[in-house]
Amino acid sequence: NEIRIFCPATIANVSCGFDVLGVALDSVGDEMVIRKVPEKGIRITEITGQDLPRETHQNVAGVAGLALLAESGSKFGFEIEIHKKIKAGSGIGSSAASSTGAVWAINELLDRPFSPLQLVKFAMEGERLASGVAHADNVAPALFGGFTLVRSYEPLDIIPIHCPDQLYATVIHPQIEVRTSDSRKILKTHITLADGIKQWGNVGGLIAGLFTEDYDLIGRSLVDYIVEPIRSILIPGFDKIKSVSKEAGALGCGISGSGPSIFAFSKGEAKAREVAEKMTEVYQSIGIDYDVHVSKIN
Ligand code: HSE
Repeated sequence: NEIRIFCPATIANVSCGFDVLGVALDSVGDEMVIRKVPEKGIRITEITGQDLPRETHQNVAGVAGLALLAESGSKFGFEIEIHKKIKAGSGIGSSAASSTGAVWAINELLDRPFSPLQLVKFAMEGERLASGVAHADNVAPALFGGFTLVRSYEPLDIIPIHCPDQLYATVIHPQIEVRTSDSRKILKTHITLADGIKQWGNVGGLIAGLFTEDYDLIGRSLVDYIVEPIRSILIPGFDKIKSVSKEAGALGCGISGSGPSIFAFSKGEAKAREVAEKMTEVYQSIGIDYDVHVSKIN
């Protein structure tokens, strides 16, 4: 009647795939404990590591769990403990980790009445609370693992994407908070056909590169003509971090989710660690506090 789970951090967008592409990381994530109890409803009994609301309707795990319970007809309720390791507003799917963890564990404790796709829908309600938009590009990889594509939102269609074994992510987080809701407001709502052509060429190239394990093609396709030019202005040292990562041999580099974290993909762990070192030198030289992780895409 109790489950303890690891809820992975995720990189959404992955440069060219705004709101549709995401990957799960294997070495960064939260822990949650979920208990089935006789009293109906959801109670958040403990949150450690971050100062977040415990009131069920104001907590992303609470809201996602309630969305599931509303459709389950469950006679039980659930208590949730959240032990945050992912910082809110860091750009690596903090809200998605909590929302997804809650619905995955509750579904297990109810003997799996819902499909993974239904769980994504419930978890998206947590994203709606966090950012104002029920995007699925973080919750899908948090739930399915690995690389995922949201091929369609209406109807929801999630495609797991093959990922080569040697693909590693370096993520550096400058210690400033960027709220997803704010960094969505500054985006343009229209794009030119010329930008669209470049962008979907890269999305196709990235997917092809992942399936054929063509690391060069993956690298060539990690380009974003639409969102990165606008959001990168909010991120200190972004252009420098990107250029040193490429010089150090990263395949590509971009904004993780809505920022301020920056990610780079590399072939092999050793290269990803070298990239981490070059990135940290940039923030050390301009006096910005940071934390940095290397993680296998998993
Ligand atoms: N696709 C979302 C955005 C991800 O970029 O706003 C937020 O983590």
